Amino acid sequence: MYSEKVIDHFTNPRNVGEIENASGVGTVGNAKCGDIMRIYFDIDENQVIRDVKFKTFGCGAAVATSSMATELVKGKTVNEALEVTNKAVMEALDGLPPVKVHCSLLAEQAIHAALWDYAEKNGIVIEGLEKPVTDIGETVEEEEY
Ligand code: FES
Repeated sequence: MYSEKVIDHFTNPRNVGEIENASGVGTVGNAKCGDIMRIYFDIDENQVIRDVKFKTFGCGAAVATSSMATELVKGKTVNEALEVTNKAVMEALDGLPPVKVHCSLLAEQAIHAALWDYAEKNGIVIEGLEKPVTDIGETVEEEEY
């Protein structure tokens, strides 16, 4: 049911933890399953994501996608991080079962929420970044994937 990469990132998640005085923090939840994800960014003066940590109170797929998402955004600029969509994360994990697609959206939304927090704190605008939704439970159309 799960790819080897999903199982690897679930059993050995990368970048778990938190960052003190983070440049940006994003917390999102899914109303349907009650799972919550929080991402912390340490962003340098060149808008490069120097470090990233996450905490997920959620299912295995949520843990695996958070882990992979943090690996994908680390070292990227804030603009490049916007390209790390849930689709990109799923591809990097060699796919997720359809019923678990919504879990990967938590990671994308948490990244966006943390970037939004960073932008607000620094008074900047990140082109293409929309104000994050905190409750994604009713916005997921799993049939689209
Ligand atoms: Fe809730 Fe996976 S079941 S995030």
